[in-house]
Amino acid sequence: MHLAHLKLRDFRNYARLDVDFAPGFHVLLGDNAQGKTNILEAIYLLATLRSFRGVKSAQMLRHGQSGYFAGATLVGQGERDIRMYWSAAERKLSLDQQPVRRLADYLGVLRVVVFCTEDLLLVKGPAGGRRRFLDLLLTQTFPGYLPLLQRYAAALRARNTLLKQRTPDEAALDSFSAELVKAGTEIIRLRHELTPKLSPLARLAYRRVSHDAEELRLAYAPTVKGDFAVELAQSRARERTFRSTIIGPHRDDLTLQLNDRSAAQYGSEGQKRTLALALKIAQAEYLTGLHGSPPILLIDDVMGELDARRRAGFMPLLNRSDQGRGQVFMTCTTENWPPELMRDARRWQVRAGQLAPAA
Ligand SMILES: Nc1ncnc2c1ncn2[C@@H]1O[C@H](COP(=O)(O)OP(=O)(O)OP(=O)(O)O)[C@@H](O)[C@H]1O
Ligand SMILES: [Mg+2]
Repeated sequence: MHLAHLKLRDFRNYARLDVDFAPGFHVLLGDNAQGKTNILEAIYLLATLRSFRGVKSAQMLRHGQSGYFAGATLVGQGERDIRMYWSAAERKLSLDQQPVRRLADYLGVLRVVVFCTEDLLLVKGPAGGRRRFLDLLLTQTFPGYLPLLQRYAAALRARNTLLKQRTPDEAALDSFSAELVKAGTEIIRLRHELTPKLSPLARLAYRRVSHDAEELRLAYAPTVKGDFAVELAQSRARERTFRSTIIGPHRDDLTLQLNDRSAAQYGSEGQKRTLALALKIAQAEYLTGLHGSPPILLIDDVMGELDARRRAGFMPLLNRSDQGRGQVFMTCTTENWPPELMRDARRWQVRAGQLAPAA
């Protein structure tokens, strides 16, 4: 599947953009602050309904405007049309001219994997980023996952509000605990199933990209070891002290180890970078394996930073995406473009919120 048309109105520094994209490899070239990343952000937004820069919709609205629009035509086996409008007062999302009622029906229509400098936080940053990584991948592959996450989050919020009170209503707490356990147990199970499938893909990607022969291992580290209901009940005394829910999927982690040692604590800067890249390559490979066609790859600034060897390790994935009627969008400034990638690429010049084919 590929993104055949992108339309933006008042999105970031794009007042108006209408552009057709063929399948294959696209390079967005331009100086700093011209709008290269904004294009990737728009595509990612259409796919996941979030910004990969972790900002809210209001920040994506062009300064001084009241609403933005983003829309795309996807071409694969059939044709899909997606449209999104956002203003402070109104949000609209449609798929093939029908309003989207359940997000589970929508997410997964456009599958993307983004590679950006912030990926390093997957290795160096707090556990929340790694949970989001697992959750996004499960959302992209399992339609029931997002509603599950939403149910869990709602029960968690309600439960934590109660726990903040001096004398929580025990009956209400029990009922939210039951809901938390029900949704939480399912989330834990799905994350447990995913990790061993992802780990060998990441190990392979790491080996391809790295200079050294470290063994990479991913392991899901849940805070609940056995029965969530039992352990939640056992944590009540500590919950009174902390006044919040202290175990459950919202506190879990994904551990990343190189030769059985924590990569965050013992890895070198280069190893961490390679590992972050390997995680994203694994995400793309996993999606490809499951759906039989590659996701759209959005590569922001990272290729220029990689040395030739790492770049070479990245190439098989890029080539497969390119050949499999997939699509790759890559940004670079005029200084850091990797020449070996430019041969078959379509080049675009990005300047002040305008996109034009480049020579
Ligand atoms: N909400 C907004 N409204 C209007 N312009 C915005 C908005 N948000 C960001 N911009 C502008 O968009 C431009 C940045 O775009 P983008 O991040 O895509 O740059 P880039 O081409 O990727 O640059 P770099 O090479 O530095 O990463 C800046 O000029 C910024 O001022
Ligand atoms: Mg940028």
